[in-house]
Amino acid sequence: MFAVERAIPKPPAVEAALAEKRDLLARLLGRLAHEIRNPLSSVDIHFQLLEEDLLGVEPDLLQKLSPRLELIQGELHRLKTIVERFLRLASPSAIDPELTHLEKVVGRVCELLRPEAESRGVQLLATVEPSPEFMADPVRLMQALLNLVINAIQAVGKGGRVEIRVVKEAGRMRLEVLDDGPGIPPEKLGSIFEPYFTTKAEGHGLGLWIAQQIIVAHRGTLEAGNRETGGAVFIVMLPLRDPAQ
Ligand SMILES: Nc1ncnc2c1ncn2[C@@H]1O[C@H](COP(=O)(O)OP(=O)(O)OP(=O)(O)O)[C@@H](O)[C@H]1O
Ligand SMILES: [Mg+2]
Repeated sequence: MFAVERAIPKPPAVEAALAEKRDLLARLLGRLAHEIRNPLSSVDIHFQLLEEDLLGVEPDLLQKLSPRLELIQGELHRLKTIVERFLRLASPSAIDPELTHLEKVVGRVCELLRPEAESRGVQLLATVEPSPEFMADPVRLMQALLNLVINAIQAVGKGGRVEIRVVKEAGRMRLEVLDDGPGIPPEKLGSIFEPYFTTKAEGHGLGLWIAQQIIVAHRGTLEAGNRETGGAVFIVMLPLRDPAQ
């Protein structure tokens, strides 16, 4: 057992209020993104038509207009990206289960993050016990694990170490992300899963919230703690039964 400090469980009423707040926020984000997406598509189409119309105007005028057109196009693209991101954010709990190999998910996450870890002088290790395939959403699980491992890489300094461990237990898989960074201050353990909670200048405070939504959608749990030896540990428990059932 690595976690010596755990978040103090909140009273059920507080938990329920928080869950309601998260749910409301997710629905608001989704609604807002949908509402913006339609007029945005219309503006996008009309912009393309306008560009075609402008092909017939004087070359001098076209040259004068082109920086403005480029700016509008760039900003339209940015808006579309933001809206798509919000839409994905608003439904992290929508999962699409298929036969999944956890080993492959972990392998892919390591493959994606190794260059980043290496450039920061961080050692990224994975120990994965052979496990059976099980019904899960590999894309979403990867997204959850990426968030945990990115946090760990950001938390440890140069020469730091991040480890992913997967152990098979009776009827479930236990996945841990361990680091040897500063750990999580005990008074913050209860807040880190809140949407928009961040201690980073450039953080959004959404990584852990998204990871938790995804794990919960798999009927699993995600807990955070501090290791006796220093550093943080995030423990994911995933039942081997089909989350759709
Ligand atoms: N491995 C870790 N070690 C120490 N603190 C951590 C660790 N992982 C998360 N935290 C704390 O939890 C906070 C919330 O993490 P979360 O991933 O939700 O948001 P973030 O990393 O700040 O921003 P982003 O949305 O970009 O991921 C972090 O700002 C940090 O304070
Ligand atoms: Mg993060």
